[in-house]
Amino acid sequence: MSTPSAAATDSDNSTLVSVEIRDRIAWVKFNRPDKRNCMSPRLNRQMMVVLDELEYRNDVGVLVLSGAGTAWSAGMDLKEYFRENEAKGLGAIRGSQREAYGWWRRLRWFQKPTIAMVNGWCFGGGYGPLFGCDLAFAAEEAQFGLSEINWGILPGGGATKVARELLSFRRAMYHSLMGENIDGRTAAEWGLVNEALPLAKLQARVEAVARTLLAKNPVALKATKDAIRRVGEMTYDNAEDYLIRAQEAANSFDNEGRKEGIRQFIDDKTYKPGLGAYDRSRQT
Ligand code: ACO
Repeated sequence: MSTPSAAATDSDNSTLVSVEIRDRIAWVKFNRPDKRNCMSPRLNRQMMVVLDELEYRNDVGVLVLSGAGTAWSAGMDLKEYFRENEAKGLGAIRGSQREAYGWWRRLRWFQKPTIAMVNGWCFGGGYGPLFGCDLAFAAEEAQFGLSEINWGILPGGGATKVARELLSFRRAMYHSLMGENIDGRTAAEWGLVNEALPLAKLQARVEAVARTLLAKNPVALKATKDAIRRVGEMTYDNAEDYLIRAQEAANSFDNEGRKEGIRQFIDDKTYKPGLGAYDRSRQT
């Protein structure tokens, strides 16, 4: 177990993001439970530092993002992110938007697979990092809401885009106009998360998923997660071309991996790709 050096503190010296690395899984937490893990500018800055420190570490293969206490994240901090920045003027507003959107973008294209483990409240701006994570698992007890409409703004900061990406048109419209919450089970039914399960079983399931990912070829994982995000906006022909080039680029990082995968199946007959991953420890 180890922690990135001073990753989650800043000049105030409080840790708004906690990190624990166990067996190649980085367990990253929004760590502001008394404020329901809402995202202040300081939290956003600390999160970027944490992502910077974790992204290329050899002892990290998967990142899990969860929240301390009863919330995953109650969205943007209405006091520190909105009111206090608005009082400082446009420069401060744009600056804090860059910090928040910056780490969400960083998460979307993170080098390693990422999993949102939604343990509780998830509101508004929280949909940015939710979508930033490649996979998402929620507690059935969790509550999801685009509550912006309840305090008088549109779901900005990407939240509207996330709703349209992940939900049907009718559901996105209802969800954002009504300001009603849905629980984890409904979030899974709607496609906002992959699965919902009782809170008591959430971590074990996420850990099992992470372990499966850790056994796969990391170059192929990064190429695949990027491809899934990119092809959504491409025509079929453009996607076909992009995928040829993406695989050829991946080969330049790891030309032996896929050859070993073929060899263990065709020559050694030690595994079947339809039923699991090849043994990477045997790759020379
Ligand atoms: N911004 C600022 N402070 C917040 C936020 C927030 N988004 N969420 C919670 N807090 C603070 C509360 O003001 C309170 O502070 P205090 O202890 O100094 O009074 C503390 O966190 C605890 O919050 P409670 O409301 O007492 O917690 P409770 O468990 O009863 O309710 C809930 C949790 C439902 C999440 C509630 O806090 C809430 O509605 N928060 C706002 C959710 C929201 O709409 N977020 C904005 C989405 S829009 C966007 O992100 C752009």
